[in-house]
Amino acid sequence: MLLIKNIAKIVGVDESGRLRVKGADMNTLGQIDNAWLLADGERIADYGTMDTMPEIASDTEVVDAEGGMLFPSFCDSHTHLVYAGSREQEFIDKINGLSYEEIAKRGGGILNSADRLHEASEEELYEQAMERIREIVSMGTGCVEIKSGYGLSTEDELKMLRVIRRIRETSPITVRATFLGAHAVARKYIGRQAEYVDLICREMIPAVAKEGLAEFVDVFCDQGFFTVEETEKIMRAGAEYGLVPKIHANELAVSGGVQVGVRNKALSVDHLERMGAAEIEVLRDSGTMPTMLPGAAFFLEMPYPPAREMIAGGLGVALASDFNPGSSPSGNMKMIVSLACIKMRMTPAEAINAATLNGAYAMGLSKDYGSITRGKKANFFLTCRIPSVEFVPYAYTTPIVRRVFLEGREVK
Ligand code: NIG
Ligand code: FE
Repeated sequence: MLLIKNIAKIVGVDESGRLRVKGADMNTLGQIDNAWLLADGERIADYGTMDTMPEIASDTEVVDAEGGMLFPSFCDSHTHLVYAGSREQEFIDKINGLSYEEIAKRGGGILNSADRLHEASEEELYEQAMERIREIVSMGTGCVEIKSGYGLSTEDELKMLRVIRRIRETSPITVRATFLGAHAVARKYIGRQAEYVDLICREMIPAVAKEGLAEFVDVFCDQGFFTVEETEKIMRAGAEYGLVPKIHANELAVSGGVQVGVRNKALSVDHLERMGAAEIEVLRDSGTMPTMLPGAAFFLEMPYPPAREMIAGGLGVALASDFNPGSSPSGNMKMIVSLACIKMRMTPAEAINAATLNGAYAMGLSKDYGSITRGKKANFFLTCRIPSVEFVPYAYTTPIVRRVFLEGREVK
């Protein structure tokens, strides 16, 4: 047993067992002041206010929160954190005025990362990715989705997905894997996009499924990348092997990606910098979680997704980092929460719900993760002493995470 005592506030308490939170409800965040929390093995057993703290059994490890707060771990439902090297040159190109699409057209962008990934060994990729994993764990992330998509050949996509599997097996963080062969058309197939889509459907998806390497299938459905028809074809091919869609949609244009995602029962549609009323409408009664990646909008200076309109339209929304070398070289979920508040006028409560419970939903994990609930996994972090919950996004560069616990164990 693990007992945490003297917690100034437990944040993100949910006793309803709901799998996601929508619309006006996003602004409520369950809290208990002056509290304790007990974990039994890897799960949360109980919690309450300090005046009701249970007797401490001799085999219980006691942790004093020393007046810090306890938050559910962030659930980062969209990353590309397995990649080789970094892309500062494009950062400079961007400073000098080139757009993301122009950089991609010159053979930079995703294809640049694919070339580097091809040269890197599985071991090198794993070591580099684990550094990023250690960094995000120390900043409070407890569940993460990681995509392939810098391989763009059957062999290299499998290499990436095996690295993701190894991270899952060797790290305390919970990992979900997404096959993103349709991230860009491989260099060899430029001018033969239909053949590349065929390769994805006929060769890559069956190979990924055979090794059980992914839960999800993703497509970059956007202007200059994959069309709605191609996206649908890939989602259907994935569905035959039990891969659930999570789609990159509406980052560069109103691409039809939201509609095709919802139609194919995507678990999430992500990015959404370009959204109209029709997109909000189709999402309303769907099981698809609209997921916003303000780190990419910040880094590429794109418009931000219309979070207020989406929430006012009754939608639940999630927030994720998009951690990748081209459009969001950061996995700092606290910063993402800050950007959501500063740039999209989400309230701190909405942003925290979006980065925890709704993020877990967007990975199919919210039954076990994303809130402080009896029976859920004991994934949480303790903060240093902070004056309020709102201080977290307000103090947008202050590192507030002091101790991290995943599956009931402290991660050092
Ligand atoms: O989510 N939009 C597509 N993919 C990534 C960027 C990948 C890259 O530039 O390497 C994204 O922003
Ligand atoms: Fe992405």
